[in-house]
Amino acid sequence: MTRLSALLALAMLTSISAQAQTYPSHAAWLIVPFAEGGPTDLIGRIAADIFARHLGQKFVVENIGGGGGTIGALRVARARADGYTLVLGHMGTHAAAPALYPDLGYDPESSFEPIGLIVEQPELVTVHRDFPANNLKEFAAYAKANESKINMGHAGVGSVSYIGCVLLNSAIGIRPIMIPFAGTAPVMNGIVAGNIDYGCDPVLNPLPHLRTGKAKALAIAAKKRSPLLPNVPTSFEQGMPEFDCAPFYAVFAPKGTPKEVVDKLAAALNKGLDEPAVQKRFADLGAFIAEPARRGPKALTELVKSEVARLGPILKTASAK
Ligand code: MLT
Repeated sequence: MTRLSALLALAMLTSISAQAQTYPSHAAWLIVPFAEGGPTDLIGRIAADIFARHLGQKFVVENIGGGGGTIGALRVARARADGYTLVLGHMGTHAAAPALYPDLGYDPESSFEPIGLIVEQPELVTVHRDFPANNLKEFAAYAKANESKINMGHAGVGSVSYIGCVLLNSAIGIRPIMIPFAGTAPVMNGIVAGNIDYGCDPVLNPLPHLRTGKAKALAIAAKKRSPLLPNVPTSFEQGMPEFDCAPFYAVFAPKGTPKEVVDKLAAALNKGLDEPAVQKRFADLGAFIAEPARRGPKALTELVKSEVARLGPILKTASAK
């Protein structure tokens, strides 16, 4: 290394570290890799509000949909690692995607600095209110008899709505027509309108439509019922334990983001998740806030690692059926 390049490298490091100390000195972006109005968007907007209030700068939500969330996640993996571009990732973008995309362009484990887990939430299988089935047994019978025409809406290969329904389809043994959208807010609109037969998505998305009776839920993909939907039986109760899906939602920064910045973001998120108003907001949406021991960069690093290892074989088996 010449004397000049050594000086330049030193100057750059000094400048990054000086910037980290005053972070955030201007507005930052939180990329939501799906359409507006869906679960990732809702959770992302709550997270952006937490960062803004605790760090004193605007955190602007930008929706970059497509590719089951992998387009927005890739954008952040390649962004400047200065803490001003973050992504709201989930079990799909940051755990399942490598098993589904051979040329993903990023690695959930090595392309990001994990900031912290926000919530986990089980999925529901939801249908139009007049759909001719009221439980998983009736759904399986109808879907098998109508396999060539039944359709399923999802938010792209690798999205959590795709993964949940793949587990369900595989348990039943059907291959429906799969219709991709940029997010699951439009999938729910399709179900309510009667254009889409079914979808699988975290509780908070179908919840308002279940409350107005425009859609109905056939099962929750979990061992326990949701306190918000005590009448919706679990997949386990209905003899379909393979349909078990409770995606995590978390914040990630690009790899190489200075530790001071990661620590500031993690501390802000942690404080926000302890606020009674935030806890009520998530509880009203049927989402479970991460326990304190499961928050922060270290716990999220471990979660991503274990979820990548868990989902790879499950998805291979599911799509092989
Ligand atoms: C997903 O299926 O991954 C999400 O529900 C999509 C969304 O948040 O719109």
